[in-house]
Amino acid sequence: MEFNIKITKAQNSRLGEVDFENIPFGKVFSDHMFVADYKEGEWQDARIVPFGRFEMHPAAMVLHYGQAIFEGMKASKSVEGKPFFLRPEMHAKRLNNSARRMCMPEVPEALFLEGLHKLIDLDQGWIPPQKGSALYIRPYMFSMDEFIGVKPSETYRFIIFTGPVGPYYPKPVSLIADTEYVRAAVHGGTGEAKVAGNYAASLLPARLANQKGYDQVMWLDSKEFKYIQEVGTMNIFFVIDGKVATPALNGGILPGITRDTILKLLPEMGIEVEERAISIDEVVEAHAAGKLQEVFGSGTAAVIAHVSKIAYKGKDMELPPVAERKVGPAIKEHIDALRAGTIDDKHGWIVPVGEPVNA
Ligand code: COI
Repeated sequence: MEFNIKITKAQNSRLGEVDFENIPFGKVFSDHMFVADYKEGEWQDARIVPFGRFEMHPAAMVLHYGQAIFEGMKASKSVEGKPFFLRPEMHAKRLNNSARRMCMPEVPEALFLEGLHKLIDLDQGWIPPQKGSALYIRPYMFSMDEFIGVKPSETYRFIIFTGPVGPYYPKPVSLIADTEYVRAAVHGGTGEAKVAGNYAASLLPARLANQKGYDQVMWLDSKEFKYIQEVGTMNIFFVIDGKVATPALNGGILPGITRDTILKLLPEMGIEVEERAISIDEVVEAHAAGKLQEVFGSGTAAVIAHVSKIAYKGKDMELPPVAERKVGPAIKEHIDALRAGTIDDKHGWIVPVGEPVNA
């Protein structure tokens, strides 16, 4: 399906002002954004306009009750300079899973993908060519009704904007297992949706972790504070005694697309991986026995972030140096090679910019 996306180009590109060798994460924005509005039960006025501010009514419901969801994805360039996405349709689907949980309208996948392709096609000069850098893409939706009562809004705005980014974590991260706060309830909460509120709720525990000298929180389950869920803004993988495992999805964990990519790629690389419940006690015991070999986080922004140490109940568990690790560096190299187009894309995950595959 073709949508009538009206394009208004920026009069002056800001591209020349960008130092691609030094890009702070999340502070540089490309020239254009895609916008569509939901009114009277349908998505209307799909458009690409110069990136810029817009007005909000003080009573806009999102500002009070938080109907806000988002995605994080990336566009990169192959070694031949061809721009592409990795598994873009997965992000369209996950956005709609989040929309259902938050009582928001779904964005037709075809509209999401067409807006995405047209926007990135127009701003493809913003995709940084440097290894480890990419064009970060932020699709998001929020409620717009100007009303004070608590109910689902009837109007929404969907936006995609982008910005070039370097690595999210330039060095290995230290974690503290939180025994006071949770990221989300294991059953019945919003943990498996990518909703703004989950991130708001994580800020205080993250600040407390930082004050104690750790980079990120490692979240335990909301019932027993026993099972590991995820870390900061990433899913988590452990290598214990040569075996790779990640917490099984349980309704409280975000179903990461990088997580899913890793679960599919590792067996193809000859590395077995399990999805299962992983308790903090198992990790403590493995560390004490010298069997905790690697821990790494995965996410769109972070890709693979090696973990340097984990604190639990006042004790630090130091992990082996990255140079001695096998799985984390190997999977990172594999994903980088897929993005660079230097290895075969067996799964058809690479989608060239400008060629939307309609859902
Ligand atoms: C991502 O990994 O893309 C995220 O959404 C995490 C974050 C930067 C909030």
